[in-house]
Amino acid sequence: MMREQGEVPQGVATLATENFQRELRALRRSVRFQEYAQIEEQMKPSGVLNRFVWAVGNAFLSVLAPLDKKLEDQGLLERLRPSKQVEAIITDGPASKLIRENQTKLDALTLSNEACWAREHQRRDAYRAEGRSDASPVVLIPYLSVCVILDFLFSNRPIQRFWMLETVARMPYFAYTSCLHLYESFGWWRAGAELRKIHNAEEYNELHHLLIMESLGGDKNWVDRFLAHHAALVYYWFLVFLYMVNPRASYEFSELVEEHATDTYSQFLEENASRLKGLPAPRVAVDYYSGADLYLFDAFQTSEESVLEQRRPEMNNLYDVFSAVRDDEEEHIKTMKSCKDRTIQGHLKEQKRLREKQLQAQGILQVGANVVTSTTDLSE
Ligand SMILES: [Fe+2]
Ligand SMILES: [Fe+2]
Repeated sequence: MMREQGEVPQGVATLATENFQRELRALRRSVRFQEYAQIEEQMKPSGVLNRFVWAVGNAFLSVLAPLDKKLEDQGLLERLRPSKQVEAIITDGPASKLIRENQTKLDALTLSNEACWAREHQRRDAYRAEGRSDASPVVLIPYLSVCVILDFLFSNRPIQRFWMLETVARMPYFAYTSCLHLYESFGWWRAGAELRKIHNAEEYNELHHLLIMESLGGDKNWVDRFLAHHAALVYYWFLVFLYMVNPRASYEFSELVEEHATDTYSQFLEENASRLKGLPAPRVAVDYYSGADLYLFDAFQTSEESVLEQRRPEMNNLYDVFSAVRDDEEEHIKTMKSCKDRTIQGHLKEQKRLREKQLQAQGILQVGANVVTSTTDLSE
C-alpha cells in the first residue's frame, strides 16, 4: 500500500513483512513481465563482457519465469497482475496519452559516459593548476570504482542512474547526523548542533532530488531498487566508520561524490537542453523550489554568494528542474569542502551575520536586539 508523507510508521515487524511481500511481488513481475528485456533494449549491451553478463542473466531468467508461473498455477504463489503503472499506460485515455508522450521523450534522454569522464579529468586538471593536491587513495580508489560500476550498470539509462545516485547521496548526511547525535548523547561534542542542522537540510534537499527522479520513473525497475538500497546501506556504514575515525576523509569522499553529481548533471543538461525544455516540471519539484516554506532550502546554502543571492530557482520546465538540482550539488561541494577544511564555522558565522543584516533591512530585526544569556565556560 502507498504510504502518505508524514504518516507515523507501524512496528518494525509489520514494516518488514509488508516490504518483503511488496518486493517479492515486484521481483516476480520483473521476471515475468519483460522488465529485463526492456532494460537490455535500453542499454544495447556491447563488448564481450557486457554481452556475456546479459547471456548468463537471460539464461537464468528463462528458467525462473516458467518456474514462477508453475508455482502460481499450483496455488503456491499468489496470482500476479501487471503493475498499476503498466496498466495506466496500456489503458487508453487522455492521461495515458500524455504519459506515453512524456515517456517517449524521457526515453530519448541521453548521457555520455565518455563526456562525464572528460569533465572529471578537466576538474582534476584545474585543481592541480590551482595547486590543490589530489584526494587520498583511501577515498579516491573506492570513489573511482563506484564511477566505473555506475557506468556499467546504467549505460543509456540516465534517469535510473540519477535515481541510484540520489539514493546513495543522502547516506553521508544520515551518517554525519548519526555520529553527531551519538557524540551529543555521550556529552562529548555539542558544538555539532549547527552542523547537524546543515546536514539535515542537505539530506532533505537530496530527498527531493530523489523524489524528482522517482516522479520521472527512475525507480521503476526492481533490480535498480535492489542494488540502490543495498549499496546505500553499505555506503552508510562505511561513512559512519570513516567519520568516526577520520572526519576529514569522510567529507572528502562526499566532496568527490558531489563533484561527480555536478559533472553528470551538467553534461546531461548540455546534451538534452531542448528535450528537457519540452517536458513539464514535476509537481514535487515545483512544491520544493517554489513552495511557501523555503526554510530548509535556505538552510543548506552556506557559501557567502549563495546567502547574498538568496536562490529562488524558476520551475517552468524540466530543464529548470535539472539546473536547480545541479546548482544544489554545487552548493553541497562547497559545504563538504569547508567541512573538510574545518572552515565551515567561519561560513556559518558569516551566514548568520548576512541573514541578520537582511532581516534588519526588512525591519524584522532591530539593531542590537540580542537576548543576554549566562553560560558556563567549560573549556580550559
Ligand atoms: Fe542530489
Ligand atoms: Fe548532493
